[in-house]
Amino acid sequence: MSIGIDWDELYRQACEATSHSYAPYSKLHVGAAALLDDGRILQGCNVENASYGLGFCAEVTLVGQMHMTGGGRLVALCAVSGAGEVLTPCGRCRQILMENGGPDMLVQGAHRPRPMRELLPDWFGPEDLPV
Ligand code: THU
Repeated sequence: MSIGIDWDELYRQACEATSHSYAPYSKLHVGAAALLDDGRILQGCNVENASYGLGFCAEVTLVGQMHMTGGGRLVALCAVSGAGEVLTPCGRCRQILMENGGPDMLVQGAHRPRPMRELLPDWFGPEDLPV
């Protein structure tokens, strides 16, 4: 099944999500919005911690929302800063997005959407685990 991707709407909802960000340490307020395979759009924001390494990225809270609201698969995602700049997901988030969207999932970049297979080549997956 092919599903239309409204990138303008994903960008708008990602920008809105930055207003929920808790980023008193880095001051980088990140928002993310993703289209799911059932047509839903979900949002996430980064949530930092005084113990810096414990913070959650916006993509992580979005994936938590997905599983808390019925699960599904990620089709397309846009992440932005509070200034409205498109952000490319960090390495840890790429692994998490791959798990929940797969290699064909599209992620908005500075110039164009790119598939996860380009953002995370030679990814570690379930087939790398012992049976
Ligand atoms: N951040 C995200 O939310 N997503 C990313 O993909 C990159 C980084 C957050 C984590 C931290 O709260 C802040 O941006 C600065 O690194």
